[in-house]
Formats: sequence, C-alpha cells, structure tokens
Amino acid sequence: MNYIDAALAPQRNTGEIKLHGPEGFEGMRKAGQLTAAALDLAADHARPGVTTARLDDLIYEFAGDHGAVPATLFYRGYTRASCISINHVVCHGIPNDKPLREGDIINIDVTLILDGWHGDSSRMYPIGAISRRAERLIDVTYESMMRGIAAVKPGNTTGDIGHAIQVYAEAERTSVVRDFCGHGVGRLFHDVPNILHYGRPGEGVELRPGMVFTIEPMINLGRPHVKVLGDGWTAVTRDRSLSAQFEHSVGVAEDGVEIFTLSPAGYTKPPYTAE
Ligand code: MF3
Ligand code: CO
Ligand code: CO
Repeated sequence: MNYIDAALAPQRNTGEIKLHGPEGFEGMRKAGQLTAAALDLAADHARPGVTTARLDDLIYEFAGDHGAVPATLFYRGYTRASCISINHVVCHGIPNDKPLREGDIINIDVTLILDGWHGDSSRMYPIGAISRRAERLIDVTYESMMRGIAAVKPGNTTGDIGHAIQVYAEAERTSVVRDFCGHGVGRLFHDVPNILHYGRPGEGVELRPGMVFTIEPMINLGRPHVKVLGDGWTAVTRDRSLSAQFEHSVGVAEDGVEIFTLSPAGYTKPPYTAE
C-alpha cells in the first residue's frame, strides 16, 4: 500500500492513502463539529409523528445556515441532505413523508462539507419508548464502534479495527453487516482505504499518523445479509431483523486517535441527555 502527503496529492481517489497534516486535521475538526451539531439538532426533533422528510429538511437548513453543503445532495443521483434508516433498514434510507411511530429506531447519517472538508457521522435515535431488544442493539452497536475506534493508533492495522468490532458484536449474539464499510474521508467523501467492520488482527492496511477515515459498523439482531430495494438505495436486512449503526470520522494521531465528530452537546448514545 502506498501513502502520499495529502498536500501533494491530487483531489481524487488515486488508490494512494492520503496522510494529512495539521491543516487537514483542523479542517476535519470544523466540518466534523458542524456535522455533529446537525445530529444534535435532530435529537431535539426525532419523536413520534414527525416525518423523516421533516428531519432531513431541518438538516438541510442547518447546513445552509452554517455555510456548509450536504455531501449526499446530488451524490450519485441521491437527492437528500441525509440518509434516515428505520428499524430493519440497514443504511441509505431515503427520507419520506411517513410519520415516525412510537417504538421505531432510526439512524440519521449526515455528511456536511465545510471549507471543502467532509464531516461524516451517524447516530441512532429512539422514537418514544422502544423495546428492550432495540435498546440492547443500539448499545451493542455504539460499543462496537467505540471498540473499533479504540483500536486506532499508528502501527495497528485496519484488520485490528474490524476484529475489535466483530469479536465484540458476535459475543453479544449480534451480526456484522459485510456489504458496507467505513472509508477514507477528507476533501473526498469516499476515499481509500476501505475500513471493514470485521477481520483479523494484523491484516489489512497499516495505520499511519495523518490518515483520516470513518468507522461506521452496521450491526443486526439477526443474520448479516442485506438486500437493496428497487429504489436503488434502501438497504434492508434480508431476514427483516432490526439493524443499527453509528459512525464517526476519525484521524490517526501520533499517539492514538482523534474523533472529529464528537457531539458539541455531549450526546453520545441514547438517551440524549448532555453529560
Ligand atoms: N454517509 C454515508 C456514508 O457513511 C454515505 C451516504 S451516500 C448516499 O458513507 F448517497 F447514500 F447518501
Ligand atoms: Co461514511
Ligand atoms: Co455517513
């Protein structure tokens, strides 16, 4: 695998892994904070009776008000500011006019571009009171992501990240979706390397200071298999079991990891009350 100084790299996916300096980290910090603030805003509105289109509109307006552009808007034909995935929808749910119902669990995934940098993050939101099994899935998924993040440091590999996630999720009798993965991020929305959410220690790509990517495990209560619906986007579990996801954009620091998309409000996982 080849690595390249991001300042000297062309602004496209060349197959080489970009290593960012302090300017890149500062750009990612700002974009990440704004994306996280949009997800904080959504927490105040995600309740029974609200439509996902309404939540998406709020995110769209928030982006515009803060000088940012949602990366998903017109991305490969997608036309919304966010993806909102309900219950057995694994990812890439398209916001629509159906009101949310008590007991639903939703993932809101937002990527805001600020000054050219992409902050990509998602969280789960319970709609009113939810079942114990839904609560447990959300907790397991959050912990899976955080264990993946904890494996990020120079000298470790992408396989160490995937392994940390998979071992934990499977010990909790849940399954890891294989069809979607984390990705390099930065001035590009989706760049190398792929960050698989399963794997073996020491395999994959070596992590070096300056790398910037997402970790975004999708975890199912049932089997890991997914299918994409006729709209070309909505991915659902084949067995219709519940699915959850969290996502952070992170950078490899000299001594560990920096999370760019931490919540300004102090929200981590539901229930969203500041710490
Ligand atoms: N935000 C998603 C990710 O985490 C990508 C969504 S692309 C879209 O990579 F077109 F579906 F919006
Ligand atoms: Co992502
Ligand atoms: Co995302």
